[in-house]
Amino acid sequence: MFTFTLRLFSLLLISTTTSTATAQPYQATDHFLLDCGASSTTTSFSRRWSGDEHSEFLPFNSHVTSFLSTPTAQYPPPPENLYTTSRIFNTSSFTYKFPVSQGPKFLRLHFYPATYSNLKENQSFFSVSSNGYSLLTNFSASRTSCFLSQPRPKVSSFFKEFIIYVKDTQILNITFTPSPNSYAFINGIEIVSMPENLHFKAEKYKYLDQISGPVVDNYTALETIYRLNVGGGQISSKDDTGLYRSWDGDDNYIFGASFGLTWGMDSPIVYTTNTPNYTAPEIVYQTQRSMGLLSQHYNLTWALPVDSGFYYLLRLHFCNIIPQYTKKFQMVFKIFINNQTAEHEADPFFWTQGSGCPVYKDYGVYVVDPDGKGNKQDLWLALHPFYGQYLDGYLNGLEVFKLNMTGNLSSPNPERSCTTPPSRLTYPIKEKKKKTPYGVILGCVGGGLVMFSLLVLMVLCYRRRTMGKSSPRVTSKSFRSLLPSDRCHSYTLKEVKFATDEFNENCVIGNGGFGKVYKGYMEKTRNTVAIKRLNKSSSQGFHEFQTEIAMLSKLRHVHLVSLIGYCDENGEMILVYEYMAQGTLQEHVYNTNNPPLSWKTRLSICIGAAKGLHYLHTCGKRRIIHRDVKSTNILLDEKWVAKLSDFGLSKLGSKDPLKTHVSTLVKGSLGYIDPEYCKTKQLTDKSDVYSFGVVLLEVLCSRPVILRRLSDEQVSLVTWGKSCYRRGTLHEIIDPKLSGEIAPECLRKFGEVANSCLHEEGSERPSMEDVVWGLEFALQLQDIANEAVPENQ
Ligand SMILES: *[C@@H]1O[C@H](CO)[C@@H](O)[C@H](O)[C@H]1NC(C)=O
Ligand SMILES: *[C@@H]1O[C@H](CO)[C@@H](O)[C@H](O)[C@H]1NC(C)=O
Ligand SMILES: *[C@@H]1O[C@H](CO)[C@@H](O)[C@H](O)[C@H]1NC(C)=O
Ligand SMILES: *[C@@H]1O[C@H](CO)[C@@H](O)[C@H](O)[C@H]1NC(C)=O
Ligand SMILES: *[C@@H]1O[C@H](CO)[C@@H](O)[C@H](O)[C@H]1NC(C)=O
Ligand SMILES: *[C@@H]1O[C@H](CO)[C@@H](O)[C@H](O)[C@H]1NC(C)=O
Ligand SMILES: *[C@@H]1O[C@H](CO)[C@@H](O)[C@H](O)[C@H]1NC(C)=O
Ligand SMILES: *[C@@H]1O[C@H](CO)[C@@H](O)[C@H](O)[C@H]1NC(C)=O
Ligand SMILES: *[C@@H]1O[C@H](CO)[C@@H](O)[C@H](O)[C@H]1NC(C)=O
Ligand SMILES: *[C@@H]1O[C@H](CO)[C@@H](O)[C@H](O)[C@H]1NC(C)=O
Repeated sequence: MFTFTLRLFSLLLISTTTSTATAQPYQATDHFLLDCGASSTTTSFSRRWSGDEHSEFLPFNSHVTSFLSTPTAQYPPPPENLYTTSRIFNTSSFTYKFPVSQGPKFLRLHFYPATYSNLKENQSFFSVSSNGYSLLTNFSASRTSCFLSQPRPKVSSFFKEFIIYVKDTQILNITFTPSPNSYAFINGIEIVSMPENLHFKAEKYKYLDQISGPVVDNYTALETIYRLNVGGGQISSKDDTGLYRSWDGDDNYIFGASFGLTWGMDSPIVYTTNTPNYTAPEIVYQTQRSMGLLSQHYNLTWALPVDSGFYYLLRLHFCNIIPQYTKKFQMVFKIFINNQTAEHEADPFFWTQGSGCPVYKDYGVYVVDPDGKGNKQDLWLALHPFYGQYLDGYLNGLEVFKLNMTGNLSSPNPERSCTTPPSRLTYPIKEKKKKTPYGVILGCVGGGLVMFSLLVLMVLCYRRRTMGKSSPRVTSKSFRSLLPSDRCHSYTLKEVKFATDEFNENCVIGNGGFGKVYKGYMEKTRNTVAIKRLNKSSSQGFHEFQTEIAMLSKLRHVHLVSLIGYCDENGEMILVYEYMAQGTLQEHVYNTNNPPLSWKTRLSICIGAAKGLHYLHTCGKRRIIHRDVKSTNILLDEKWVAKLSDFGLSKLGSKDPLKTHVSTLVKGSLGYIDPEYCKTKQLTDKSDVYSFGVVLLEVLCSRPVILRRLSDEQVSLVTWGKSCYRRGTLHEIIDPKLSGEIAPECLRKFGEVANSCLHEEGSERPSMEDVVWGLEFALQLQDIANEAVPENQ
């Protein structure tokens, strides 16, 4: 009976949505904004909040002490007016009562923990309940803000969002109860109606692991734990679809080194009856994180801390924005939640009858509480490619909700108490080094300028395809909004100056035609970066500069150096790159005092660089040819992960996929240039393969590509290496420091790969994909040999 009614109800809703939902923005029937402690109307988050003093929602209650307060000065200034006042309850319970219509409501409680009227924020513990649900118990806002500050920059204010279904009593009451010898406070209360069927559904949610979990019916209260615009930046409440939800970026929750790729487009999203336009704003569906095509070997994983001992509902949003993907069964992936398979064959095209329109999927999971303490635990979400023409997978948005257990949503406060935020970490400023990554970083920046034009082309093509009509006008503003704001960050000049100690000469790590490169420490994100400051005299216009950043930020791969931010304040043109702690590959191979790299490390660096190159060759409709592959353009991060840099000479391949070359002036570095390209002036991706073959020999033999003091036969590493390979004496010319370390089978395979890359005729050389495969095979051979032979032999 129960389910029947609900189902009928929902059917009715669906039929009404068909006719109206796509035609109307969601208009909340109830929308209360209360600025607690304020006596008049204020503006915060671009909305008008009424003061709660003398408010009709505060019933007369003579036994209650509540008073207004303004936070004292020692705290960071409140980000919104809402936080300048709070209402404090220091004796007994206190209830706000809101007359609302029947139906589901968002309830948002805003907190700004600070010292109010000499009451220290760390002494505030209280409970909050609403309509019979216990929302918070012995809650400490100051501890919560510390917890929230862990993965992200310091959080001074935050809100808790709950979803409560108001029954026919048509009252939403909120009761604050201070813990003994403590006090409660609240800065703002927000109540917004939501569409009836956004979360409350007739169908049961799909639960993992369990045969069944609780139904999300009108007796269930939910708490929003995460709402992420995956692969995009933050979205503020005013840019939501009339529900005033805030969306966060997902970068802080990516687990492991594989960040995948982020994509964005700004053509309109076509909503459907099943996914009406209030489900999520367009920008959520217009940005995504995908695995990239080289993903057979990893899971794209998010780790999201949640409270143990509760059921959680995960809502995954998908929308196809990659133009190559056009139909069902072309790109099928798996979805794992907490290491269990949630979806064996995820195919957003299949789910949308081949349209690729936005669609969301809900999954329920129980997070077990092993020790009964309700501590935080990571909730895992992972994508893994499965089958199809493209091995990939993507996600556009993610929402995580906690479901009440026996009327209770509260968990203990986060354990960690707040330590004083670490002040600016000191890092040793190295004396000016001789040969360093800067040349490379510089090149990368300079190269970026070239790269930019190529990318503009790519993205424009791409837009056109997605739209099926003329490409939209692109304004710098829309680009800015498409930037994944936490990965390609807009820094203030103040931050950059602080990071580089006012552009202190001691921080300079490189110098070049475009300007200087500094090593800097970013206070907010707490990481070391390479900061490139372009000369103000550079003629590049402001708009181009911005567009370039937007473009560069789209090309992301584990094995390509990333642009993480920029600063365009005050006429400055500053680019911020990830800092490559170990410098260039060359610095660790020869002419160096660095300890020799082990053979396995060298192999994995080569594999990484090969993957980066393969990505460039295959990532877009038109291949990108690097044109300057060499050991100084392969940078190493602190974990020895190889990253290609310096796209200064890069070229975009022909538009015609059948035409494999572009004709250009011959450019590149001596000793690395493909002889065929020199002769024909025709550049192909095989020219990169040749240069990569040269790098393989450098790594094996630890010597420069050209060494004039040697005998004629040996001057060129390539000629020498190839002749040794032919004569079967390659083992005689390897780096003596590696002697005995390389298994003969591994050397044979490695030599074969290097030699094939160096074939005179481009068409005979392998593709980078084959190179990756060959090197991985060589690594396996090495591993097998190592297992067979005990270490001490
Ligand atoms: C939903 O679509 C309608 C038109 O179809 C539009 O008027 C409305 O503004 C949209 N709502 C949102 C939140 O985008
Ligand atoms: C609550 O605050 C009022 C106003 O500051 C004060 O007079 C009263 O003593 C406080 N009560 C307790 C129990 O701290
Ligand atoms: C609150 O913080 C102060 C310092 O700001 C500290 O002395 C005090 O012990 C803390 N109290 C609690 C209950 O943590
Ligand atoms: C709050 O609402 C619930 C359910 O509507 C009701 O049971 C409870 O008595 C109310 N509490 C107060 C203090 O009004
Ligand atoms: C509330 O939490 C604090 C800190 O964890 C603890 O010291 C206090 O005893 C708790 N109070 C109650 C009533 O549980
Ligand atoms: C809640 O759901 C039950 C069962 O479907 C239904 O009978 C009841 O009318 C619903 N209540 C409200 C307030 O919608
Ligand atoms: C899931 O796998 C990760 C490693 O990928 C592991 O750290 C984690 O503990 C696992 N989680 C569960 C719930 O088994
Ligand atoms: C991906 O995650 C699933 C589930 O946790 C696990 O079984 C699988 O081994 C993982 N794959 C890789 C390559 O890490
Ligand atoms: C949530 O609370 C409601 C009302 O108290 C209760 O009926 C329901 O069983 C609870 N859900 C769970 C999973 O305990
Ligand atoms: C709700 O759960 C918290 C934490 O588990 C517990 O301290 C509190 O007593 C519970 N509240 C109710 C009303 O059951």
